[in-house]
Amino acid sequence: MADIYRASTTAPVNIAVVKYWGKRDAKLNLPTNSSLSVTLSQADLRTLTTATCSSSYTGEDSLTLNGAPSDISGARTQACLRELRALRVALEKKDSSLPKLSSMPLRIVSENNFPTAAGLASSAAGFAALVRAIADLYELPNSPTELSLIARQGSGSACRSLFGGYVAWQMGSQADGLDSKAVEVAPASHWPEMRALVLVASAAKKGVSSTSGMQQTVATSDLFKERIAHVVPKHMKLMEEAIAARDFAKFAEVTMKDSNSFHSTCADTYPPIYYMNDVSRAAVRAVEAINAAAGKTIAAYTFDAGPNCVVYYLEQDTAAVVGTFYSLLPSTEGWKDQAKSYASGA
Ligand code: PMV
Repeated sequence: MADIYRASTTAPVNIAVVKYWGKRDAKLNLPTNSSLSVTLSQADLRTLTTATCSSSYTGEDSLTLNGAPSDISGARTQACLRELRALRVALEKKDSSLPKLSSMPLRIVSENNFPTAAGLASSAAGFAALVRAIADLYELPNSPTELSLIARQGSGSACRSLFGGYVAWQMGSQADGLDSKAVEVAPASHWPEMRALVLVASAAKKGVSSTSGMQQTVATSDLFKERIAHVVPKHMKLMEEAIAARDFAKFAEVTMKDSNSFHSTCADTYPPIYYMNDVSRAAVRAVEAINAAAGKTIAAYTFDAGPNCVVYYLEQDTAAVVGTFYSLLPSTEGWKDQAKSYASGA
């Protein structure tokens, strides 16, 4: 009987509170700024990936994503597979009794438990799960931070999904990218009351991909220069302080300001890019109304490269935030028809 080797893993979605936006090296996915995210609960939004290899397999490596064959010939996926194989080759060289998994074709099967088309950072969970599953299959001893260097090359934000809780992606300064990696700021257990509500304003595929949006921003926005020189370094410092002190009002203010800053740089590109739509803006107003009614900041909105809104809040404020969210929204057909929510423990 043929030998089959298998490993399965899950990786959760992460949503940045200080955004990655801009590449200084597009090939290696090296960012123009550091970023910080909160990893969402595995129960709600995650990718499940199984990697197998066998000496009986023939042909090329393959990936099946949500039941359909997926193209893995792109440079990013190939970079991940190449680096993981190289690490396995090194292990097999050190110990000749190990099976030669590195020379067998890989079959990867991946599934999201949330709508892939909804623009919910699926590539972050996807690449993190792919890297972790193959690293487990190859029995690599590398730490999550070391693996984050590989996941980063698949999709920048994926490097942060190798950790739970609060995660920083340190931009690094080296040209080879070896210091551009994810590190844990605090585990989820540090602030277990943190929750995230995901509001799907539109499930349509995003208009401008993050790669081309970043390229256009770096090339044409003057505001972007200010963002990477001053705004992000300030936000990173304040955010780390807010998390250390579990200061939600401070966490929320920086989260909202950083989202505003990121979307402003997009609007400052030439031609401008608008990821947020009328439903997104209604969600901003709803969060402002919730905070005004509470007399303090209990909810924070943030938007990635699309119109969907993620609202961070604390467990004790669930009724005030989730309970009143819908009633505060304008009763437009659009919102009622399109809005879906996923409450998730972050
Ligand atoms: O990892 P990418 O290339 O999909 O870029 C993600 C960019 C944002 O989601 C907008 C911000 C972030 O830090 O995740």
